[in-house]
Amino acid sequence: MWKKELSKAAFKFIFAGMNERILIIDFGSQYTQLIARRVRELNVYSDIVPFNKIPEDSPDIKGIILSGSPFSVKDENAPTIDIERLLGKKPILAICFGAQMLAEQLGGKVSRSDSREYGRAKLSNILSKEGLFKDVSEDSQVWMSHGDTIIELPSDFELLAGTASVKVAAFNKIRKNNDEPPVYCLQFHPEVTHTDEGKSILKNFVTDICGCTGDWTPAAFIEETVEDIRNQVKDGKVVLGLSGGVDSSVAAMLLHQAIGKKLYCVFVNNGLLRKNEFDDVLHSYKDLGLNVIGVDSSDEFLDALDGVSDPEKKRKIIGKTFIDVFQAEAKKIEDVEWLGQGTIYPDVIESVSVNGPSVTIKSHHNVGGLPEKLHLKVIEPLRFLFKDEVRNVGRQLGLPEFIIGRHPFPGPGLSIRIIGEIHRDKVRMLQEADHIFIENLKKHNLYNEVWQAGVMLLPVQSVGVMGDERTYENVVALRAVSSVDGMTADWCHLPYEFLALTSNEIINQVRGINRVVYDISSKPPSTIEWE
Ligand code: XMP
Repeated sequence: MWKKELSKAAFKFIFAGMNERILIIDFGSQYTQLIARRVRELNVYSDIVPFNKIPEDSPDIKGIILSGSPFSVKDENAPTIDIERLLGKKPILAICFGAQMLAEQLGGKVSRSDSREYGRAKLSNILSKEGLFKDVSEDSQVWMSHGDTIIELPSDFELLAGTASVKVAAFNKIRKNNDEPPVYCLQFHPEVTHTDEGKSILKNFVTDICGCTGDWTPAAFIEETVEDIRNQVKDGKVVLGLSGGVDSSVAAMLLHQAIGKKLYCVFVNNGLLRKNEFDDVLHSYKDLGLNVIGVDSSDEFLDALDGVSDPEKKRKIIGKTFIDVFQAEAKKIEDVEWLGQGTIYPDVIESVSVNGPSVTIKSHHNVGGLPEKLHLKVIEPLRFLFKDEVRNVGRQLGLPEFIIGRHPFPGPGLSIRIIGEIHRDKVRMLQEADHIFIENLKKHNLYNEVWQAGVMLLPVQSVGVMGDERTYENVVALRAVSSVDGMTADWCHLPYEFLALTSNEIINQVRGINRVVYDISSKPPSTIEWE
């Protein structure tokens, strides 16, 4: 298991330049990323690796957490590792499936419980208030979610706590001496907010048990990353595509801090941005001191898209046109060697496949193949960070709040919000309606409550009446969702008054629209964008 070769995870860490991390071994749980985020909230870097790609042990690994899993340990195809090979090296915290797998491998007994133990429970009989449960109160609420249950502990383990319905809620290995790294196991999930004192439990593990100092702050990250960039790039030049979004903006600021004017940013207007977005964002980038080239290629994109209605075709055309435009700009920069990208951690985590190969619903990565095409070396200064961490780094770097707090916006822009064929007049109509909706959200202090919002222009005409005139015009749908990462989402319960005034303004001010509807679908089964 502890592979000899330097794994990708280890490489990543050397780049991050930090001297301590918690390794999280993923068995496919929906909560694995949450564990990583909770550890990082303690200012300790954590790294997720799939169960079948555990890196070689190294001094920077201060502790190991085994995640849960949607599998039962009794499933034939359940993921597994050789626990014996991890024992005695670093402190271990095994959660749910991780704890059950450990118990079963070391001689304990696990059985499928009659009913799924799911939901809130209260800890009882905490047998030791030292170590993992230091300062954790008796009767503390915890969150259970498991179908298997441990009925007998391995011989050299002892019970630590139970709940009213589960005898074994927590247990630990009996240590032979103080040098032996502790092993703790939980059948509940400390990482979810429903576990009231989960944060203290994780803090006890990371800080007291693993001895991490907690020096991984945005400021420390910036300092280390800037130094790493300088060491890698040396006197070379970097070109980076800015999108107006938070990731590429923060990546640009970090690179700028490291190499100044040797960073060349390219901001392309594809004609499908929001109203005034190209000029506004370009100016703010210039105000930040970035060396930015604004390229207005609207005509090129809109000509290529004229009459196209298939969503995946739209994505492909925009992706290809972007690469062509970007390549032409990059070629103008003499001796450029590097391509900067705003890739973030969720894009690079290798996920454990639970349901077999997944089908592509939408091809979100529209400019895949860019580095190969340009023959440039890639530098991705944010590849270790979750989105909220990117925002914190951005704040520390002095990026204005209007860039940091921006809603996500798809690469193909308004093209996938014009359902059906794209024409210039439709783009203009949608830009106006979208502008009214977004500005109203800001005016009514709702913008930051919403994860993403936008307007869809439907290929439907409906009859209306304006004055004494009959109208036969377009319908738009407003969409506003709450979400954490865009993978799942729910529609926002915006106030009726707000919807009423926004609808009125759109119908009165945007020529060509005579009806507004509100989308009340969640994801799944719908998606956020309509195409
Ligand atoms: P869906 O519609 O799949 O969207 O629920 C999830 C998130 O992804 C964005 N999205 C895209 N982003 N290129 C992008 O860069 C795309 O082709 C694309 N399609 C959807 C969407 O806006 C939402 O934030």
